[in-house]
Amino acid sequence: MYNEMSLRFISKRNNIIIVRNMVGAMLVDHNPTLTFLNEMKTILSEAITNCIVHGYQNQEDKYIDMKIVLDDTKVSVSIEDYGVGIEDVHQAREPLFTTKQEEERSGLGFTIMEMFSDYMEVESTVGKGTRLYFEKNW
Ligand SMILES: Nc1ncnc2c1ncn2[C@@H]1O[C@H](COP(=O)(O)OP(=O)(O)OP(=O)(O)O)[C@@H](O)[C@H]1O
Ligand SMILES: [Mg+2]
Repeated sequence: MYNEMSLRFISKRNNIIIVRNMVGAMLVDHNPTLTFLNEMKTILSEAITNCIVHGYQNQEDKYIDMKIVLDDTKVSVSIEDYGVGIEDVHQAREPLFTTKQEEERSGLGFTIMEMFSDYMEVESTVGKGTRLYFEKNW
């Protein structure tokens, strides 16, 4: 059955767990497997962490916009920040690429998100922000 939800939240780390649980609650109608739920939560954590630590350089008072759409075949999610943006999206998506080596980042966030989703795109403009869109089939 169709459902959709839009959510605007600020860039606090605590909000990651809240958003993960909200989306989890929304998916329950479709009886997802535990694996599906865990993969979805992992994607959300990686995506929102990127908005906070990269997009907003850990400032806690910035907006992140998210939209979740459920239909009979898939879950579609967009997550958008209005932060620094990404200079070279292709390079950023390469496994192990990170601009924060000194902060024990491994550069695997995009790789993990890609692995757990069925379709993923990243749009970014330097100085304007970044939008991630992904789909995960039931
Ligand atoms: N929302 C964003 N805004 C600005 N830059 C971003 C954003 N998301 C990702 N990036 C850039 O893309 C790079 C790769 O992101 P990715 O999530 O794959 O690795 P990481 O965040 O550096 O490390 P990890 O996710 O393993 O902790 C980041 O180092 C950063 O330079
Ligand atoms: Mg990351």
